[in-house]
Amino acid sequence: MKGEVIKREPCRIDEPYNMLHTYYFIKHKEYKVVGIKLRFNFVQTTANTLLGRLCENKSDKKNIKISYHPFLDNESTDVFGNIKNDLQSEMLFPFRFKTPGSSGIQKTGKEGWNPLFAEFLSNTEEHLRKYTKEVFGKYCKPDSIVYDPACSTGQFLHELKQEYNSIFTVGGDLSSEMINYAKDFLDKTECCDAKDSLLEKEFADVIFLRFLNDQVVSKNQAKQILPKVLEKLKPGGIVFAFGFTPVLLTAADFEKNNLEVLQKIAYDSSSDAIFQYYVMRNREATNQKPREKGLTV
Ligand SMILES: C[S@@+](CC[C@H](N)C(=O)[O-])C[C@H]1O[C@@H](n2cnc3c(N)ncnc32)[C@H](O)[C@@H]1O
Repeated sequence: MKGEVIKREPCRIDEPYNMLHTYYFIKHKEYKVVGIKLRFNFVQTTANTLLGRLCENKSDKKNIKISYHPFLDNESTDVFGNIKNDLQSEMLFPFRFKTPGSSGIQKTGKEGWNPLFAEFLSNTEEHLRKYTKEVFGKYCKPDSIVYDPACSTGQFLHELKQEYNSIFTVGGDLSSEMINYAKDFLDKTECCDAKDSLLEKEFADVIFLRFLNDQVVSKNQAKQILPKVLEKLKPGGIVFAFGFTPVLLTAADFEKNNLEVLQKIAYDSSSDAIFQYYVMRNREATNQKPREKGLTV
């Protein structure tokens, strides 16, 4: 970024934190950029949403107080170009969704999810399914055992299997209605909270985390669920984390759980947008004998 940006007089945002949490940050190299979301809770963002370079963030639970050096002319396009080409750029969403007027953070419980919304759920993740099909072969073996502990309708793993026929798909979900729907599309299913799964330890080559997200679980729950789910991952296994609402954990949280973060964002050329897309590898060495593909539980 050109040096003159940080010489510019800062713009200030000072507003109550009771809105549809519109601001976000991108950590890129040694600085952070401030952006504003156009669709209130969706994480795909484009160049025209970048406001400037972060100067100071003094926000708390009640007020959003941010100052930034504004971008002029085509600067946001140039900065966006640098960000999208660096997969270690990280999108951060510190302001979580609150229903206007309420004091609480939004999360959905067991009853909030059922297959009646299948079409809506499917639409929200179209770009994620498309990108995953492109990138899966780069990180994962073609005969991987793939586990999605909150598989929802099962469409995500089902479509992946249509592309990679030799994978074995295992889906769990809290909702029995979802599991009843998903079971026809997956090789194996289990109905339970992800942290209480009875599947054997270290069975999965690949785990998809599509539920440690805003409006699905709380941040504390996400922190508690992650290590339990990772018990199912083989040493050296791969973990993906993303969603259409913000991922609640950061690269630093994943690193603390013994994961090497290989990528933090992805770029979709058809919409010229970036979105959160974490790919991680379990740091433990693969020194075990190869396991039989069939699961014992
Ligand atoms: C995968 S997420 C996000 C939505 C996504 N667009 C989709 O395809 O449905 C939604 C699913 O997570 C499930 N879920 C939420 N919390 C869970 C938990 N603690 N353990 C297992 N499943 C959970 C819900 O029942 C729901 O089916």
